[in-house]
Amino acid sequence: MEVFLKSSKIPIKFKIKRMPRLLVMLYLCKKHSMGKPVFLIGYMGSGKSTNGRKLARIIGYFHFDLDEEIEKLVGKNINQIFSEEGEDAFRLLEHSVLVSLTNRKNIVVSTGGGTPCYYNNLQLMKDVGVIVYIKMKPESLAKRLQSSKVKRPILVRAQAGDLSAFIAKHLAQREDFYKQAHLTIKGENLDFDILLNSVKEYL
Ligand code: S3P
Repeated sequence: MEVFLKSSKIPIKFKIKRMPRLLVMLYLCKKHSMGKPVFLIGYMGSGKSTNGRKLARIIGYFHFDLDEEIEKLVGKNINQIFSEEGEDAFRLLEHSVLVSLTNRKNIVVSTGGGTPCYYNNLQLMKDVGVIVYIKMKPESLAKRLQSSKVKRPILVRAQAGDLSAFIAKHLAQREDFYKQAHLTIKGENLDFDILLNSVKEYL
């Protein structure tokens, strides 16, 4: 089946393998709209998915992991999308899936590390929801990411053994976007209660 994602201003066409969960969840979220969406942003490996899932469960919101939704939609994993379609196509998909989520309520979205840095994604999230930046130091990120490098095409560009230096440089480029979040929370030994209570004040 082929589908146009009409919610984005930029029409895109991709082979769609599975999309029922996304549609069902979006329908339910629309029906029960109440609270602002919460977007977790931050560098790869900062804990956006784990904490997003936990946060959603506790505040009774639906959880979406942007990368997982893209993978389900296209029927390919992130590495395959990067290698077969290219990064530009991935960014367009990422933008389109994000757009499709921005008019929903009662959702927590764990974004990808690059999401706020492309198109008008940051502004889109700012306009409708609460953005939380999980901030971590390059050295801490490098430790976490060393073993999962292969799953992240962006990190393949880093020279072996030089992961921390690569992350430091890359993070500095992205920090201007990240620091525009409504809330910033330290990702090393993240205090979940602080995250929870801070977010609640914004809902
Ligand atoms: C990316 C981060 C990844 C994924 C893709 C690109 C990035 O998500 O979206 O590999 O540009 O930082 P995670 O932050 O969940 O690893």
